[in-house]
Amino acid sequence: MYDIVIVGGGPGGYASALYAANFGLSVGMVEKERPGGTCLIRGCIPAKQWLHIAEVFNTVGHAAEFGVIAGQPELDWSAALARKNQTVEGLVRGLGGVLGKRGIDVIEGFGKLSGAGKVDVETGSGIRTVEGGAVIMATGSHSRSIPGYDLDGSRIVSSDHALDWEKQPRRVAIIGGGVIGCEFASFLVDLGTDVHVFEMLDQIIPGSDPEAAKQLQRQLQRRGVTFHIGVSVGEPQVGGAAVTIPFGDESVEVDVVLVAVGRGPNTTGVGLESAAIELDRGYVVVDPETMQTGEPGVYAVGDIVAGTPQLAHVGFAEGISAVTHIATGVPQPVNYQAIPRVTYTHPEVAEVGLTESEAVAAGMEVETTKHAFNAVGRAIIIGQNQGFAKVVTQKDGPIVGASVVGPQAGELIHELMYSVGWEALPAEAAAFIHAHPSLSEAVGETLLTASGRSLH
Ligand code: NAI
Repeated sequence: MYDIVIVGGGPGGYASALYAANFGLSVGMVEKERPGGTCLIRGCIPAKQWLHIAEVFNTVGHAAEFGVIAGQPELDWSAALARKNQTVEGLVRGLGGVLGKRGIDVIEGFGKLSGAGKVDVETGSGIRTVEGGAVIMATGSHSRSIPGYDLDGSRIVSSDHALDWEKQPRRVAIIGGGVIGCEFASFLVDLGTDVHVFEMLDQIIPGSDPEAAKQLQRQLQRRGVTFHIGVSVGEPQVGGAAVTIPFGDESVEVDVVLVAVGRGPNTTGVGLESAAIELDRGYVVVDPETMQTGEPGVYAVGDIVAGTPQLAHVGFAEGISAVTHIATGVPQPVNYQAIPRVTYTHPEVAEVGLTESEAVAAGMEVETTKHAFNAVGRAIIIGQNQGFAKVVTQKDGPIVGASVVGPQAGELIHELMYSVGWEALPAEAAAFIHAHPSLSEAVGETLLTASGRSLH
């Protein structure tokens, strides 16, 4: 009998387990593989490692522009893959160590809710029932596909497979120009693969600021990615050596197709029907104040939650919220408004809060202020002075959202996270001067202008 039984050891699950230690609660965490989940094992971490490998390759390839003669770089794909595996392995092992130190029992097997406070675990040696005062479901998500595109792991693949390609593919078609599609397009093109991206909507990374998305698209195009925007793809023809993707009257021939059309929740076969849990199109409906489902004592966090972003750090935040409620009875809701969203492409696109169109749709009267990186000294020094920072403010009111596209955008967004989270007025945020020379000055200058008095 544990205080909390957690089903799933990804970011939502393991963050819940670690946070529970703050309250001295006993935790059993059921996991069918090793703790780490999609993020550590086949998602964020390995993808960002590949992106960094591409960045190193790029830096060496452009070294001569800085007077550093290194010759044309060559990629040792196996060594790069080994580096990716080493990074994942180190983090997974590290996580195992931290869980052990906090006294968390990792129960190996497939967990299935079997009523409030009860989880049946299918282990190698039969079913073991684990009981807890509360249960947190954190079963995560899986790659979805579209009709005709059955994921076979070799010719038509998901990001799970693509992170482990043993050889560099020569020609890749990516279906879906969302976060995963663009991140893969970015590192593959930089490493020399011929890349086509098919996006059915009218912009890539839909939902983000259209101007930021356009800037990313332009920069990827310039490096060689071919975008097919607003097109529907037909069923692929898988031949001996190639896959042909038809669209309209045209077609493209590639070696492999990466399907990146979103991720679906892992909510079937995990026993949710054994409790009073409501689903919305497969996602678990929770009380956003506490993360509790319709069944008292059963909580859900992470990618399975209805209506919240499928991001590792959202899983962390939801785990903290659920555990706080279990431990104290006091709701500590997640502030979804101030969650940074980062696409780790080159250049990075990072956002927080509302985009201009979302703010307008919410009935706000807004103003936007933008400052380009092109005259920012530090951006010129590193040769990456394209892109901009943009803040959305309510007229005579606080900052409600921001987008940054450019170098280190994924880091720069965090100061804007505070501005949005604390509902800062532009003048309050602009009252601090940023270090010079720094990339952050792009944000500082935007805030100054938003406050009505610009500097440069
Ligand atoms: P996504 O929802 O971000 O993008 C899917 C894209 O596929 C959309 O642009 C959609 O319009 C397009 N699409 C759907 N059906 C299509 C079709 N038939 N033909 C052409 N395009 C089609 O999902 P994605 O990129 O697969 O990522 C899954 C989840 O993982 C997302 O929720 C994302 O937030 C998360 N993730 C986050 C990352 C980050 O924070 N950096 C990195 C990778 C994934």
